[in-house]
Amino acid sequence: MSLAWSPSSWQQRPAKQQVAYEDAGSLAKVIDEIGRLPPLVTSWEIEQLRGSIAAAARGDTFVLQGGDCAESFDDCRADPIAAKLKILMQMSLVLVHGTRKPVVRIGRIAGQYAKPRSADVETRGDVTLPAYRGDLINRDGFTLAERAPDPVLMLRAYERAALTLNFIRALTDGGFADLHHPEYWDISFAKGSPHADQYEKIVESIRESLDFVSAITGVENEVLRRVDVYTSHEALALPYEQAQTRTVPRRAGHYNLSTHFPWIGMRTAQLDGAHVEFHRGIRNPLGIKIGPAMTIDWLLGLLEVLDPEREPGRITLIHRMGADHVATALPPLLQAVQRTGHPVLWICDPMHGNTETTPSGIKTRRFDRISAELEASFELHAQLGSRLGGVHVELTGEDVTECIGGARGLHEGDLERAYKSRVDPRLNYEQALEMAMRIARHLRGR
Ligand code: PEP
Ligand code: CO
Repeated sequence: MSLAWSPSSWQQRPAKQQVAYEDAGSLAKVIDEIGRLPPLVTSWEIEQLRGSIAAAARGDTFVLQGGDCAESFDDCRADPIAAKLKILMQMSLVLVHGTRKPVVRIGRIAGQYAKPRSADVETRGDVTLPAYRGDLINRDGFTLAERAPDPVLMLRAYERAALTLNFIRALTDGGFADLHHPEYWDISFAKGSPHADQYEKIVESIRESLDFVSAITGVENEVLRRVDVYTSHEALALPYEQAQTRTVPRRAGHYNLSTHFPWIGMRTAQLDGAHVEFHRGIRNPLGIKIGPAMTIDWLLGLLEVLDPEREPGRITLIHRMGADHVATALPPLLQAVQRTGHPVLWICDPMHGNTETTPSGIKTRRFDRISAELEASFELHAQLGSRLGGVHVELTGEDVTECIGGARGLHEGDLERAYKSRVDPRLNYEQALEMAMRIARHLRGR
């Protein structure tokens, strides 16, 4: 059954959600070129993240994974990137305060450019064209030329990912997280937000604690001066992932150096499929999305294939059941994994099971449903003697109107005002911060 693994052995398996490139020569040339370019991340960063994920599974840290549903090439600009980093930092600060534990920040960033689609085509009026599949695959304009997959976009995606990561690294090394830089921590554009006061208090209290420690030790506190932000994306477009998968000196095995933390999406997790084949051979920690359609046998099969050695930190199960299904769908899977003793990290994606379409045809999510799934998940894990060790959210650092609800009470009529996502609706800046406060309250209560 099992074939010898190589970075391209996935090509022998049925691959869902892939596109057919017309020009095989051009595809081969792009893969070869990306393969010769430097890696985006390093194996030691990947190993460090694996350690942090193992710690989260033990309850010693908490994972915050968040970012766009789909990054766009247009948004590879200073402001949106800094805004995303800022909201991740601010959320993590709130979580640190609530949990009294380190928080591991993982962006859906620097490579989240390929999207699985439920429908292969999109129809507008009497025109039907291939669906938009993310900037790494095709363009979102509604013409045949724009919707045709173009392998050169993979190279553009690699470059945009590198530019994004370069900026993130510069900001995080350069004191972005220093609490004495008010420009990074203030929430002036959310002034008037019902949560502003509470947030200011949290920042002030952490700042005071740090100042106290440096006053008595005489050592500047480095903890929040330099921070780590890891990258993640759905490893969907396998030619792109293959091109960055390689061996490194003095370590065994292959690493996918396009990202620290790739995940397998719900639509491509078939046991005998190409995506599972690809992921089984790379050393990175892996995420697996699990929805209500997941079965016990399937899940245990995935764990067996992807992590036969049961290595701590290797597998993160990201459940996204929906507020209505989580109480029935999660416990059987959770208990089945518990019975195996597999040391997985559980995190909750409260976004993807709660997507709905308004009567006027806009894709949205309700803040209340998102919170409800999250809160139910914390409860269910606790009841079953397990632990929810992180969250996975779609968010932006900008003031968009894509999700309904939150303290400012966005409603359906507001959605048109600033709806920018090309795929799924994201929490805006204030909603994301509010979500962090709710999670922190929850964790604190435990
Ligand atoms: C996503 O994370 O954007 C996504 C498509 O998720 P899922 O595979 O869980 O539907
Ligand atoms: Co999404």
